[in-house]
Amino acid sequence: MLNIAVLVSGGGTNLQSLIDASIKNEISGQIKLVISNKKDAYGLERARKNNIEAICEGDEEKVISLLKEKNIELVVLAGYLKIISPKFVDEFRKKIINIHPSLIPSFCGEGYYGKKVHKAVLDYGVKITGATVHFVNEKADAGPIIMQKCIDVLEDDTVDTLAKKVLDIEHEILKKSVKLFCDNKINFHSGRVFINE
Ligand code: GRF
Repeated sequence: MLNIAVLVSGGGTNLQSLIDASIKNEISGQIKLVISNKKDAYGLERARKNNIEAICEGDEEKVISLLKEKNIELVVLAGYLKIISPKFVDEFRKKIINIHPSLIPSFCGEGYYGKKVHKAVLDYGVKITGATVHFVNEKADAGPIIMQKCIDVLEDDTVDTLAKKVLDIEHEILKKSVKLFCDNKINFHSGRVFINE
């Protein structure tokens, strides 16, 4: 069982989908720690309700030492709104994954988070959108892509209807990506991810 930590800043529905998957033994990993930079993040409450250690910590040095203390082998950024420094990336190289609510490389990077992403999608008029799970590297939302899934953008879609549809996809592909990581089925060749099912 891999030791997993999940970093959140908000409601934690992605965290909840991982907690549920772990309880149902759908992933061979155990969530040992949830950390948030926001003390009122409901994600912390979700952790506490499931007897998972929940810590509010904004100092990155302390976050890194907490992760090391717990022998964390996979860090999942699930709605975590703090930038990860190169030092953090280096300490956990290829062990940090992030879920982003668009099809990277579109609508990502600085300033693209939460509903801002879906507004940009509607403003541009693209016909599909979706979610991406990727490894975290030094650049925001730019690491090797593990999994993506898309949905149609309908003419009557709003920011809220898109956010809901994309969030459902996030839950699905994050769970699948974490399972693949725990099962050691994710490989790299020249900076790209290959899955050996
Ligand atoms: C969602 O918009 C998701 O795309 C992004 O963070 C937001 C909140 O997710 N990753 P959650 O409900 O806190 O998991």
